[in-house]
Amino acid sequence: MKDQLTKLKDQAVKEFKKSNVLDDLKKLQTKYLGRKGELTKVLRQVKDLAEAERPKIGQYANQIKGELEVLIKDIEYELKQKSGAQKEELIDVTLPGTKYQQGHLHPNTIVQRQLEEVFKNMGFMVLEGPELESEYYNFEALNIPPSHPARDIQDTFYIKNKPGLLMRAHTSNQQVRAIEKYGVPLRAVFPGRVFRNEATDASHETTFYQLEGLMIDKDISVTHLIASMKAMLKGILKKDVEVRLRPGYFPFVEPGFEVDVSCLICGGQGCSVCKQTGWVEMVGSGLVHPNVIKAGGLDSKEWSGFAFGLGLTRLVMLKYGIDDIRLLQSGDLRFLNQF
Ligand code: PHE
Repeated sequence: MKDQLTKLKDQAVKEFKKSNVLDDLKKLQTKYLGRKGELTKVLRQVKDLAEAERPKIGQYANQIKGELEVLIKDIEYELKQKSGAQKEELIDVTLPGTKYQQGHLHPNTIVQRQLEEVFKNMGFMVLEGPELESEYYNFEALNIPPSHPARDIQDTFYIKNKPGLLMRAHTSNQQVRAIEKYGVPLRAVFPGRVFRNEATDASHETTFYQLEGLMIDKDISVTHLIASMKAMLKGILKKDVEVRLRPGYFPFVEPGFEVDVSCLICGGQGCSVCKQTGWVEMVGSGLVHPNVIKAGGLDSKEWSGFAFGLGLTRLVMLKYGIDDIRLLQSGDLRFLNQF
């Protein structure tokens, strides 16, 4: 009987090793170790053996059973590994890909970059400057007298316990900085964020964007200024818009102008953005005041220039038909995802 068991074991081992799919292995397991399996049958016969032989044969049969079970486990593990690896290699090219959420530019940035392109093509540098600024560059260097209302804390954010420091109220703070740094002749635009102590509503925010332009050269006139304004508005709005020029007072230009654009949101009918007038104040501009030229260390008889400050945020609103300025800083994805 011992020989019979050994033969049975050898045969089983051979067959187990041949199986290369899990199903075959399971069948063989049943064939040998199942309730009606070959080995089980032999084990059942043990009780009919002579009493002296029973323990020896029984022990041997159980040993074989144990060995076969270990072998099955090993083969099963190997087969599973193999089929797992195969699965990983299978690529179904007809499945739709995983969609990654991609960020995109804020409308302010889109318009700012388009404007930068327009001006770079006309030979202007693009410069950035400090948002935390000294009273000197924000006011004094720009010929803004201490009595000017813009200097009032009602209009400007000053820094607590830091006399002489404030959040810049306009990008004009860059004018004298740029002259000092780059000299003349100079053509530059300064886009950036500015801050004012405003009561907020549909057209006023405490934080918004401007784009300043400055050109200093010899014999600069209002003609140069108007041509640049036109190129700018056409380059960005991509259509002819009605523009009106009226006198405007800014201490750092002389003469000074306000450039209004007909309101594209209501088509000039009057709405909350244009304060019911049909026109939106878009640009402050003028010829650079001799005192500013002097503050830049230049001879104001020799050098002249024009400067303008575009309400970049307003332009964004007009371009996209946004009727509430507060949406721009809201971080509301329902709004932002439209751009
Ligand atoms: N700095 C002015 C403002 O913020 C705009 C301006 C810039 C006007 C340059 C004239 C020249 O309103």
